[in-house]
Amino acid sequence: MNVTYASYLKVDELISLQHCLSDGPEHDELLFITIHQVYELWFQQLLHEGSKLVHLLGENRLNQAQHTLKRMLKILKTMVNQVDILDTMTPLEFLSFRKFLSNSSGFQSYQFRELEYFLGKKDRRFMTQFKEEPEILAKLEKRLQAPSLWREFLGMLLQRGFAIPAEVIEAPIDEPTKESVELQALLLDVYRHHSDLAGLCESLVDLDEGLQEWRYRHVKMVQRTIGSKSGTGGSAGAEYLKTTLFQPLFSDLWTIRSQF
Ligand code: HEM
Repeated sequence: MNVTYASYLKVDELISLQHCLSDGPEHDELLFITIHQVYELWFQQLLHEGSKLVHLLGENRLNQAQHTLKRMLKILKTMVNQVDILDTMTPLEFLSFRKFLSNSSGFQSYQFRELEYFLGKKDRRFMTQFKEEPEILAKLEKRLQAPSLWREFLGMLLQRGFAIPAEVIEAPIDEPTKESVELQALLLDVYRHHSDLAGLCESLVDLDEGLQEWRYRHVKMVQRTIGSKSGTGGSAGAEYLKTTLFQPLFSDLWTIRSQF
């Protein structure tokens, strides 16, 4: 069969996937669905690029790893900028279809949790909401049991002969990344004497900051749209989301900044 733009990209299927639930339907519901679906595609792409990054770090191919990280950063920036679109939705416009969302919420985005686990924010508590969905649980368990990006980065340093402290290497793989004073001393040395590796560290800081930026923009969007109301997912809404701000992924890379 002749491959066309529409057949290759499955455009018909794609644009039939936005099912509004409101009566009418309400004008703004399409935007709400579209933007969430676009985010899910970006989450998928970030996880896809993340797998490549891990592979490249394992093979000690620094230039290519940096290239992939750069792409991930551009995607993240795009994701942050896309919040601008949803910011055009007023509280009344959101309210016109909010009840149709029932208890569904971005809180249940399993790809977002996969991304968090990949980036070392391994919190098992988020799995409880998927207890009726074994396929999702299996995906999340796999991410929990896989080394985080930070561990893979340190693995690459180990391969290059850096003495990564045992407390870091032997820490349980399914737990969140913890800071290590010994590791920080080593990272200071990396920054002072290995500019190529320091460049990679800086890109990880960019990634970290990018995700924190997205969280901040998301909280502000939530405050604009629903104020201090609780979320459809059952949390305290913006109050809950504020507790997730300023929580770095690679905290050693932030702590060392006051030690130079
Ligand atoms: C009008 C737009 C939006 C509102 C009012 C909103 C509201 C909320 C609220 C209140 C929560 C806290 C959980 C809850 O109780 O529901 C939440 C969590 C979340 N939302 Fe949104 N959201 C919006 C748009 C988006 C978009 C476009 C995305 C992109 C995928 C998204 C992704 C998430 C994620 C991943 C969480 C979990 C965050 C965490 O636990 O750290 N949200 N949202």
